[in-house]
Amino acid sequence: MDHPYASYRSLFPVLASKIHLASCSQGAISKTVSEAMEEYLNSLLTTGVNWSQSIQEVEKAKKGFAKLIGAEPNEIAVLGSVSDIFSTIATSLSFEKGKNKIVTTDMDFPTVGHVWLAQRKFGANVSFIPSQQEVIPIEYYERFVTSDTLITSISHICYFNGFKQDIKAIAEIVHRKGSLLFVDAYQSAGQVPIDVKKMDIDILAAGTRKYMLGIPGMAFLYMKTELAEKWKPRVTGWFGQANHSKFDIHQLTPAPGARRFETGTPSFISAYAATAAIRLLLEIGVENISSYLNELAQFTLDYGQEKGLQVVGPLSADQRGAMTAFYAENAGQIESIMKERNIIVSARNDVIRIAPHFYNTKDEIRQAIDELATVLNTK
Ligand SMILES: Cc1ncc(COP(=O)(O)O)c(C=O)c1O
Repeated sequence: MDHPYASYRSLFPVLASKIHLASCSQGAISKTVSEAMEEYLNSLLTTGVNWSQSIQEVEKAKKGFAKLIGAEPNEIAVLGSVSDIFSTIATSLSFEKGKNKIVTTDMDFPTVGHVWLAQRKFGANVSFIPSQQEVIPIEYYERFVTSDTLITSISHICYFNGFKQDIKAIAEIVHRKGSLLFVDAYQSAGQVPIDVKKMDIDILAAGTRKYMLGIPGMAFLYMKTELAEKWKPRVTGWFGQANHSKFDIHQLTPAPGARRFETGTPSFISAYAATAAIRLLLEIGVENISSYLNELAQFTLDYGQEKGLQVVGPLSADQRGAMTAFYAENAGQIESIMKERNIIVSARNDVIRIAPHFYNTKDEIRQAIDELATVLNTK
């Protein structure tokens, strides 16, 4: 397989000395992202104040993200992390008797469970769908989502083993049962196509530092306009107000659309990074990225098994995102050994995650798997 994006590799300085396969944790930083961050710092160094430029950059980042997921910019809010978004949404809900069930899964990122469990004292009844052989069978949604379900909160791609869910099919089930659908897309945004309208997603969250190739400090919240208008956030602040430049301490008037969920000054430098990073993703096209990554994922699965590694999660790339998880006792230690050998992979509990992006080659994956197999002493 040729590398269709070979010409982009020089944009990522780290690739000259490392095999970077950790986009599920922190994507590689491009020179354009680094220049954008420098632009932010330089404007502070030279002009002293860069407030309006920075606000414009936040708007550009929102626009870019809206395009990436098929939404309108006014359906996007920025917060500091995906955890913040979950707390903002959860604390805006009221858990009425007969409509107080939260359905999530045991494959979601722990923050998701933590936030929902924290709502139990306010009346939430939290139900975890158990995984079965490392996936969530779609028929479980028919069983677990019931008429008293207020919100179904699931991830598009599992952080732990790369399992990808059929969001459109799940949306049909949960909406038929009268539940909202909240999708954690942190492991999918930037690597697989997302169209919130076609997938019929009500609420979506994604941060910028993984496959979106930015840095920590910023996460995007999508909420359908018609839905947002009905919500009165309890986690709030001046950025969430209709007219925040009025500085009126007595007025609490939520901004139109998703912006009402914003709180205070966002991380401007993260917005500069996000705008540049998303621009690159849009230039290449997420459809193109996704089909290349699908080939890489299948190669990772096949070659890994050939070398005696044990795949955790589905064996077909079509049921996964780019990331492949291999079983490894003491994964944290293995991650450090691989790092010493200039191969960046990511550990979680007892798995090593290999997560390429468009800038990676098949040969890099081959080298990483060879090294992992040696370290694990499998072959
Ligand atoms: C799927 C998923 N959701 C949420 C998070 C947490 O994101 P944050 O640290 O921005 O709260 C992560 C982080 O790794 C993740 O992989």
